[in-house]
This record gives sequence, structure tokens and C-alpha cells, in this order.
Amino acid sequence: MKILPEISRTLSEYLLIPGLTTEDCTPDTVDLGTALVRHRIGEESGVRIATPLVSAIMQAVSSPELAVALAQVGGLAFIHQNQPVEEQAADVRAVKRHKAGFRTIEVTVGPDTPLGEVARQLSATEQGVAVVTRSGDTEGAFLGIISLDDFHLERHGAHESAGSRMRGRAGLVTAPVTASLSEANELIWEHHLDVLPVLDGDRVASLVLKRDYQAHKTYHRASVDGEKRLRVGAGINSRDFKDRVPALVEAGADVLCLDSSDGYSVYQAKTLEFVRETYGDAVSVGAGNVVDGRAFRYLADAGAAFVKVGIGGGAICTTRAQKGIGRGQASALLDVVEARDAYARETGVHVPLCCDGGLLNDSHMAMALAMGADFIMLGRYFARLDESPSPKVQIDGQWYKEYWGEGSQRAQNAARYGQGGRMVFEEGVDGFVPYAGSLYDNVERTRAKLTSTMISCGSTNLRDFHRDAVLVPVSAESFKQTGAEVQLRRPTADH
Ligand code: IMP
Repeated sequence: MKILPEISRTLSEYLLIPGLTTEDCTPDTVDLGTALVRHRIGEESGVRIATPLVSAIMQAVSSPELAVALAQVGGLAFIHQNQPVEEQAADVRAVKRHKAGFRTIEVTVGPDTPLGEVARQLSATEQGVAVVTRSGDTEGAFLGIISLDDFHLERHGAHESAGSRMRGRAGLVTAPVTASLSEANELIWEHHLDVLPVLDGDRVASLVLKRDYQAHKTYHRASVDGEKRLRVGAGINSRDFKDRVPALVEAGADVLCLDSSDGYSVYQAKTLEFVRETYGDAVSVGAGNVVDGRAFRYLADAGAAFVKVGIGGGAICTTRAQKGIGRGQASALLDVVEARDAYARETGVHVPLCCDGGLLNDSHMAMALAMGADFIMLGRYFARLDESPSPKVQIDGQWYKEYWGEGSQRAQNAARYGQGGRMVFEEGVDGFVPYAGSLYDNVERTRAKLTSTMISCGSTNLRDFHRDAVLVPVSAESFKQTGAEVQLRRPTADH
């Protein structure tokens, strides 16, 4: 037995001391771009992202819709792996097929679906329009579209059918799947449309919305591959990787990541070995999670494309209480950063670090980046947003989104927690997080705050920010003082 001499510390136990801000440090010159996968020092990483945020490998978080939105604003989503291989591959394909401005469909109903149900589904999503198909699913023959403007529940009755109020296919302007975005927008303006269904044979492949017109013009930092398709990641596990990895690679996943609460295991090394033997360097796989330098070194030597840091800090996590495993995120990160930098000096290879779990606000993200994280993985943050797949619910007049851990009974993700085929105990909870609006607005605000912190510290890129940052631990007394003086008028919904 050995007891480490240091205390396990969290990110909120530190503050940044401002550095000299020069005229060169402006919001326009700050670059939040970062490497996602390992690369030789002095060379470019094979995958870079302009916004250092990725989404957690979780059912409540990473759907194709969220993946599209996050890639558009320069981040990257990891489609969750707690689903059959084919379904996960289909999610990846949906993101890769996405063309800028062409939205995947959020709500599909049948002609007999009651208007009350249509209204319920539409108000739980952001798109505001449902596609009506003969079978009621996305593969079905296209019959029409219906939005909340097409009916009123009191006037038309909640039990009336969608078919009775939809705008039928015969009267609609549509575009073929081969149409470009400018052709689609041409049709929208020419025919005064609010929505344009894009057809692939008899089924609707996507929708183009008039209200997105301005937005598509502004995704200048989107994460895209060499063919200008949006980038997307996918989670894998160390059990069925021989089936899952080929299917995800075939579907076009840009990067894979082992999804485990404790990544310091021979099983992760074996998975990385399989991928290297099968694909050489063509497929990048991140590994983790770890909380110390030994585990980092093990996974870096095994060929991990990046290493994820964090055990027990997640908002929905009960691992520390259940198993006594974990480490304060700041202590974990500082230890692993030291090992990462030593590895770089010895081998000439930079292995990016992903800080995963328990980041409660934007200042925690700034702290993690200052400490040396290359990018940040977030679950709760994204679950709160319109684009996450989790249901939106109203409780006592307030809107919430459901959020549940992959180690909860609801997720039944036994593989992630090394509990064989059946979960014997839970390592996560199932609950609600306050609804926070659109991903586009939230990521923009987070970017603005990170930029502002970097300007205060006199840095214009993340490498300099890490090199030059001066941090100081805060005392328990400082904690007490923060926020104790003023009774807030209302709880801020801001992050
Ligand atoms: P959050 O950003 O604080 O919500 O943390 C998200 C992270 O928590 C994920 O990326 C996972 O690493 C971790 N996680 C997800 N589900 C569970 C769980 O049920 N128990 C413990 N950790 C979890």
C-alpha cells in the first residue's frame, strides 16, 4: 500500500492570475483550435478542431443531430456505443451524409397519428415541423408535412389525425437529393417556402428550412474532412471491437474512442493493437479514462490517438461512492499532463489529452485548458440543449432535459463498467438538468468566455495559454467568500 503525499484537488480549487494583455490579444486573434489525435511535434495533427469541445459518449447526449450541430460550430461528437453495431453505424452515416443546410428529420409521424401527439413531439424538439410518412417512420413513403402552424388543438381536436391537417405532398414544392444548397435556397425564395423537403426516391432525405438561411453562411469554423463532410467520432468498447470497428470505419467515422470508466487495462491495449494491425495508422482510436501518469504512459505506448482523463467527476457519476475509485480532476490532469509532456520529450510525439467529466461551468474549461488539456469532453453541458436526444420535460413550470449516466440502470451499459453482461450495481444516476436552449448559442457564449480568459492571460492560442498560465490554489475561506455577499435576484440560467 502507498499513500500519495498530495491531496486530490478539483478544478474549482484554482484561479488564474492575469498575464500581460498586449494589442495582439483581441477576440479576432485568439485561436481556440486544437489537435485531436497524436502527431509528431512540429507536424500537423491528422484531425484538428477549431472549438476544443467534444460531446460525451452517452445515449442522452450524442445523437446525429447533436453531432451535426457540434461539428458545424467547430467541435466533434462521439456517437454512443451502447446500441447495436448497425444502429451506431447508421448514426455515423447520417452525420457524414449531412450536407450543410440540409437537416436530418427530428419528428416523423404517420397519417393516423393524433394531432395531440404531433403537438407533443413538436414542442419537445426545435425543428418545428414533422414529416408524415405512410409507415410513420423515416424510411416510409412521403405523404406530407405538418407544423404547429397547421392546426390548433382546441379548434381541430387532439384526437384528429395528422393526415387531416397536413400539407399534402401533391401541393408541396420539393427538391431532389442531388440539389445543392444554393439550388434549394433558390426554390425557397422563389416559392415563398418556410420548409423544403428533399426527396430521395419516395422518402424524405432531409429538410431545408428558410430560417437556417443566415446560419449556413456562418459555419466558417465547421469540423470537416477532406471531402467537406462534417466530422464525427464514435465510441467503441473492448469486447465487440472486431465487429464494431470495421462497421464504424466503413460508415465513415473520423475518429474512434474506447468508452470505459477505467481505461488502464490490458483489454484497451489489445483493442488498440487489433486496430493498428488491421488499419495501420489510418484509423485513430482514443483511450481512457485514466487519472495518473502510469496509465497515460501505458495507453500512449499502446498507440492511443488521445487519452481521456477523469474518473468519478461526472455530473451523473456515483463511481467514487460505489467503488472508491477516482481522483480530483485537477490533480488527475496535472499528473497526466506531466507524463504527456515527458512522453513528448522522449518520443517526439504529442498525444492530446481530453479532460472528461465534472466541468460545471465555463471557468472550469478554461482551467483545464490552462493546465494542459487539449480538449474537453462534456455530457451534462450538451444534454441540456435542444439538439440532444433526451426528452424535454416541464416540472413546476420549469423546462428540463432528462440526463442519465451510462452506468445507470436506465442505460444498462454493463460493458463500460466491466460488470460482465448485466449491471449488478449502478455507477450513475438518472435525472434532469435545466433546459438551456440551442447548442449554437451556448457554444458561442462558451467560446466568448474562453477567449476572454485567454486575453486576460495574454495568450492567443491554447499552446501558449498552457505554457504561460499562472495558477494559484484557493483557500477554503476564499470559497466561502465567493457568492456569500449578495442574494441573487434570480438563479442565472447562464452557464
Ligand atoms: P459530465 O460532463 O459532468 O456530465 O460528465 C460526463 C462524463 O461522465 C462522460 O463523458 C463519462 O466519462 C462519465 N460518465 C457517463 N456516465 C456515467 C455514469 O453513469 N457514471 C459515471 N461516469 C459516467
